[in-house]
Amino acid sequence: MKLTIVGPGKMALALAKGLEKEHELTIVGRDGEKLLRFTKQLSKHAKTALLDKYEIDGQTLILCVKPYALKETASKMKGKAQSLYSVLAGTPIKELQKAIKSEHYIRAMPNLAAEFFASMTTLTGDEAQKEEAEMLFASIGRTLWVESEKELDIATAIAGSGPAYLALIAEALADGGVKEGLKRTDAMKLVEGLFTGFAPLIAHSHPALLKDAVMSPGGTTAAGCGALEENCIRSAFIEAVAKAYGKTL
Ligand SMILES: NC(=O)c1ccc[n+]([C@@H]2O[C@H](COP(=O)([O-])OP(=O)(O)OC[C@H]3O[C@@H](n4cnc5c(N)ncnc54)[C@H](OP(=O)(O)O)[C@@H]3O)[C@@H](O)[C@H]2O)c1
Repeated sequence: MKLTIVGPGKMALALAKGLEKEHELTIVGRDGEKLLRFTKQLSKHAKTALLDKYEIDGQTLILCVKPYALKETASKMKGKAQSLYSVLAGTPIKELQKAIKSEHYIRAMPNLAAEFFASMTTLTGDEAQKEEAEMLFASIGRTLWVESEKELDIATAIAGSGPAYLALIAEALADGGVKEGLKRTDAMKLVEGLFTGFAPLIAHSHPALLKDAVMSPGGTTAAGCGALEENCIRSAFIEAVAKAYGKTL
């Protein structure tokens, strides 16, 4: 497919690196030098174009600018796209429709792991584009199509913000180890190994069964889990998702 990526930032680069093998890319931005720096980081040639008066007729656009830049970006583009894919956080399809003319609209919510082709990306929008959307975003990791924008916004509070929540857990676990006397470098190695090993475990077991399998009666894990429960770990995360979702409304 011919794809046009608008806004040559971090998310656009992750996407372009994933998409360049199978698709013909054009990268559109407001700064020619940034566009050149961007395309140098790709392994295949990609066309570039300046945003000013950019003609979008019949194109498949992947919009990667910051949400606050939607109106300004849209004002510089001309014509009607075939499909508009938007990764803009908290920006509903209604707003995209007001700003940019397109036959189809799809929202995508990737996460930071896109850089390593391991994003968990939530998708929603025009059902007619579901298969294409899943195929495009599978190039940077896994995808989940949801039925509504409300679900995509809730998913953002889990998988979009999730890397930050897990980073807090990782840092706190390492701090705990250091507090008890481990070297910082060793504590970080342990945490990194823990997260790598946890991915296949959670893919194959329900979290409750996983916990039960580690927790023996009166043992170390039971003592640790008890301490987490005393500190309301579950309600803290449930509240975190509620607050993050609340920000998208
Ligand atoms: N990073 C993530 O983990 C993540 C996750 C999910 C969704 N997203 C979404 O991805 C989008 C991009 O985020 P990012 O992290 O890639 O940010 P970024 O690296 O700062 O890139 C933003 C891009 O938007 C362009 N831009 C900003 N203001 C503009 C304007 N007024 N007119 C034209 N272009 C403008 C910038 O152009 P210049 O280079 O010329 O400044 C830059 O290329 C955001 O909407 C965000 O919600 C990001």
